[in-house]
Amino acid sequence: MSARPSQPWWHHAVIYQVYPRSFASTSGAVGTLEGVRQKLNYLQQLGVDAIWLSPFYPSPQRDAGYDVSDYCQVDPTFGTLAHFDALVESAHARDIRIVIDLVPNHTSDQHRAFQAALAAGPGSAQRDWYWFVDSEQPPNNWKSIFGGSAWTQVCQREDAAGSPWEDDQQWYLNLFDSSQPDLNWDNPQVREYFDQVLRFWLDRGVDGFRIDVAHGLVKDRSLPNWEGEVSMVDGGEDDADTTRAPMFDQEGVHEIYRRWNAILASYPGERMLVAEAWVDPQTRLARYVRNDEMHQAFNFAFLCCPWQAQELEQTITDSLHAFRQVGRPATWVLSNHDVVRHASRLGLEETGKGPNGIRAREPQPDAALGLARARAATALMLSLPGSAYLYQGEELGLPEHTTLEDKWRQDPAFFRTKGAEAGRDGCRIPLPWAHDAAGCGFSPTGETWLPQPPGWAELAADLQSADTGSTLNFYRRALALRRDWELGQGEWSFQPCEGGVLRGINRCEGGEVLVITTVSAPSVVPSDWVVKLCSDPTLHLRAGDEIPVNTTVWCQRGN
Ligand code: GLC
Repeated sequence: MSARPSQPWWHHAVIYQVYPRSFASTSGAVGTLEGVRQKLNYLQQLGVDAIWLSPFYPSPQRDAGYDVSDYCQVDPTFGTLAHFDALVESAHARDIRIVIDLVPNHTSDQHRAFQAALAAGPGSAQRDWYWFVDSEQPPNNWKSIFGGSAWTQVCQREDAAGSPWEDDQQWYLNLFDSSQPDLNWDNPQVREYFDQVLRFWLDRGVDGFRIDVAHGLVKDRSLPNWEGEVSMVDGGEDDADTTRAPMFDQEGVHEIYRRWNAILASYPGERMLVAEAWVDPQTRLARYVRNDEMHQAFNFAFLCCPWQAQELEQTITDSLHAFRQVGRPATWVLSNHDVVRHASRLGLEETGKGPNGIRAREPQPDAALGLARARAATALMLSLPGSAYLYQGEELGLPEHTTLEDKWRQDPAFFRTKGAEAGRDGCRIPLPWAHDAAGCGFSPTGETWLPQPPGWAELAADLQSADTGSTLNFYRRALALRRDWELGQGEWSFQPCEGGVLRGINRCEGGEVLVITTVSAPSVVPSDWVVKLCSDPTLHLRAGDEIPVNTTVWCQRGN
């Protein structure tokens, strides 16, 4: 092993996103925390440094757990607090850290604070936890990210008939589903409540938090109309931009993260906060990770970058630059539970952020092209300095489920857009563990909460584990080399980008590592370099050999 890293772990960590519903179950159709614990050997063998767990809290599951009704408990579907503690202990015993998801922008409408607000009525202190407004019409033109208005009138709720709020004319804000009311972060009680939530989990040993919708907590109090495009991405041009969306990236959010930073710093160990903030440009995003705020921010510009050499080079350069300015590591991510899996996204005619889900009647991705590019993109990502995020199943090369029947869909975006958007269910299919078991070994009963697509069994982890030419073994090799060479702590420089081929050097513990990605044209392994990793695990390239298009190689000097 190489020298001890001098930077905190999160500067260079590879963090694996577990989506508990779909990772592994010890009971039935839905995954469990004990299921995660039982797969820790697999994750250790894969070589990840940490796990980020998507929400496992009590929730009506209207938005797959991102509608939290109790922030300090485990939903019985996933297990108990004892299961959570056992998971943390077993992970730590393997040197795997645990990052959990915190959802502070909104609660579930079943959270006791919202129920109390409904019951207490207009003008009450309880209503001041949320954005309740007196108005004859929706108070402004804001749209929900999931489609439809961002305002719900209390008397129009499903539970209004026969309730004390039957005639209540107030509106409340929901930037997501109407079951996810936005919290009012101007209320000091809300701040104090979340301080306690952070401490609750820090006391239980978590190593960090992924902050959901981190750019959304504070709203412009005057609630002005907003004519801009309604999406998670706030794309203002510069710091003084007056066209900035009034619900995103407001100056006031930073005070909250300073407060949280101080709480984390009062605990031993290197605890961290990672921002889910869809903020453009990168310099604006970097403000979330100034040294007394959060520690990392997801790099969605990289995820959304088209498969185009110059654009990739530009995005990587901008990212490294923006984060270097604030002394924080860049991060890299290609897939998560909200986007089309990159093995499919990169196989579409038009690469980039991709559509919100794909259906059978829509243009289908080219699976082989998508997988080749996905592995090449992953090898490029893992060669870069900073911290990288993997989404469960990408190490198996899993594609999006693009032929899921609508009757299975659960994403509120599908319902709120009245089916115009397929939504995110296709990237959330339960994982295939065993090729010859019912439900591909996802659960002991063979049940899966979403059906697995045809061909899932051939991608099962057990088959791939035994096959040296598999995507899984490519990921294992890449992560092992990345760790040995300390690529995450290296210095990156690009060589001039020519003819659709990216070339960069990472100067690190492993010496000079040459990385070549053939984005849109082939290239050749230069003489005096030895290929140590190839994103096509069936190729064995030597100096002078052609590197086919859509491939990444890592080379060290030698003959
Ligand atoms: C984040 C989550 C997404 C969720 C939304 C609302 O974007 O990643 O899954 O639907 O926030 O909480």
